[in-house]
Amino acid sequence: MTGGTGADYSLLDKQLLALIADEPDRLANTANFVGLLYEGIPAVNWLGVYVLRGRELVLGPFQGRPACVRLPLGKGVCGTAAERMQTVRVADVHEFPGHIACDPASRSEIVVPLLLDGKLAGVLDIDSPRTERFTVHDQRGIETLCRTFTRVLSRKDLRAESSGFI
Ligand code: SME
Repeated sequence: MTGGTGADYSLLDKQLLALIADEPDRLANTANFVGLLYEGIPAVNWLGVYVLRGRELVLGPFQGRPACVRLPLGKGVCGTAAERMQTVRVADVHEFPGHIACDPASRSEIVVPLLLDGKLAGVLDIDSPRTERFTVHDQRGIETLCRTFTRVLSRKDLRAESSGFI
């Protein structure tokens, strides 16, 4: 917790479960997931979900300025994280080859793949106006939140009201 950027990831994880655990609608849960994290993670100017549709990532629920709608797999920070199925943490977006600038205020970024039943369903993308905003501690906390989110979405007893990811 340094420089006013510390988030209480353990508390956020509890709040996330309380928000989504009993709700079967994936779109509603995704919207609340994004809203909770945007409020709870300091120094963030954009936070949202991109959903895998074929070979593209398509914009889903988000907080922040209107953003690029379609991102190709393998391109930019989101497409790279999606293709590798691994988190990509970028200290300075200007140094990342192929970075796709949606909000010019963004200086650092973290993208975490969202896996449903072991398959790529989309990514969570978080942008900060500060360089080097996201530490290894943030990465671990955000990955845990993403696992809680996808675990609830995967629950078979909650599937009735949703066919796709969101
Ligand atoms: N910067 C991302 C694009 C999405 S916006 O940041 C919302 C990228 O390079 O994939």
